[in-house]
Amino acid sequence: MKIGIGNDHTAVELKQQISEYLQEKGYEVVNYGTDSSERFDYPISGEKVAMAVKNHEVDLGILICGTGVGISLAANKVKGIRAVVCSEPYTAKLSKEHNNTNILAFGARVVGLDLAKMIVDSWLEAEFQGGRHAKRVQMIADIEERQ
Ligand code: RB5
Repeated sequence: MKIGIGNDHTAVELKQQISEYLQEKGYEVVNYGTDSSERFDYPISGEKVAMAVKNHEVDLGILICGTGVGISLAANKVKGIRAVVCSEPYTAKLSKEHNNTNILAFGARVVGLDLAKMIVDSWLEAEFQGGRHAKRVQMIADIEERQ
């Protein structure tokens, strides 16, 4: 599985640590973020990862900024993207099972490395359950079509 990862200047170290963690687990990781401590505007990497998911260059995306909020908001502007911000594993798991999220976001100023790994594992291991949830996810897509 191929995962696109993106970040801003607040999350360079955590992005690198999570990338290594994923690679050790056998995932292919594509870096769309910054590796510099210079200020970097999170909408740039949020959009890049979202477009990579939308265009099937990668299977799923992971985004990290200070809180995970701004970068997920940017990603959610791309049609077909369902990005969730999580600071604990339960929401990460349910967001995949019920909402079929295709991008996970979290904050480098909010979660430490061990918790981030737990969030990532819960999200990647969960599977969309379809059924009644598919109808609701389709209703979200319908909102996009009405814009
Ligand atoms: C950068 O200072 C900070 O605003 C950004 O990393 C993020 O937390 C925005 O949502």
